[in-house]
Amino acid sequence: MTTNETQAVIKVQNISKTFHVKSQDVQVLSNISLTVNKGDFLILFGHSGCGKSTLLHILLGLEPPSTGKLIFFGKSLYENMDEDERTEFRKTHIGMVYQQPNWIKSLSVLDNIVFALRLNGIKANEAVQKANSVLRTVGMEEWSDYVPTELSSGQQQKIALARAIVTNPDILIADEPTGNLDFESGQDLMNLLSKLNKEGKTIIMVTHDLEYLPFANRAIQMFNGKVIQEVEDPKTFVKTENKLLKRVTS
Ligand SMILES: Nc1ncnc2c1ncn2[C@@H]1O[C@H](COP(=O)(O)OP(=O)(O)OP(=O)(O)O)[C@@H](O)[C@H]1O
Ligand SMILES: [Mg+2]
Repeated sequence: MTTNETQAVIKVQNISKTFHVKSQDVQVLSNISLTVNKGDFLILFGHSGCGKSTLLHILLGLEPPSTGKLIFFGKSLYENMDEDERTEFRKTHIGMVYQQPNWIKSLSVLDNIVFALRLNGIKANEAVQKANSVLRTVGMEEWSDYVPTELSSGQQQKIALARAIVTNPDILIADEPTGNLDFESGQDLMNLLSKLNKEGKTIIMVTHDLEYLPFANRAIQMFNGKVIQEVEDPKTFVKTENKLLKRVTS
């Protein structure tokens, strides 16, 4: 086994996806192959409708590919597991942040996070301790008694991030987590993701926004359902684009 193989968390092998819409087959993903290694901060970017969310749903075990394989920690998710096993696998290994967080509206910030832990079988006392600790990690401890919908979009996304990482998943998957945020809040959230990545968390994030590429160590571009390139050095990607560079470094 090569070093790369031992460190591979996810291997996407020749995945295609076709949806059947109004008696027509629409191919949304075509022959995608990529590997995510432990410790990666991988950004997937590409135009609206190019298939980013569909690919994430496949990675999450929510949407079977039409052809191809998804190998996650050496297991073929759609061949060797049934739906219940995939749900269990997801709960254990993956934390998810969406563009718009979905809250239990009757519960406080703290209890929304506690709830995620209770679903994973953590006892009440321990769950409260862990929830408080993760709120400190994202700098939101003073908002724990609020109802999430009383907070700003940027604050809500920090809490959504806290909820996603509180179960200590191996991998964090984020679908346009900064999509509804202004520049400052977007940078705040990216800095938090970056910090988590530096502490060892593997991250896959989808974005439209090329400004965020320098936060990642890998960036893969999709176009019309295909992977068209892996950016050589995302950290310096915007250096050729003065206008963007200014905003990233200011
Ligand atoms: N369940 C579905 N049934 C039929 N078509 C679908 C389904 N899910 C996605 N699609 C189609 O697949 C294509 C890709 O959608 P997807 O949501 O993956 O794009 P995206 O890259 O995430 O776009 P955006 O940046 O706007 O979120 C779109 O044309 C969409 O209409
Ligand atoms: Mg999408």
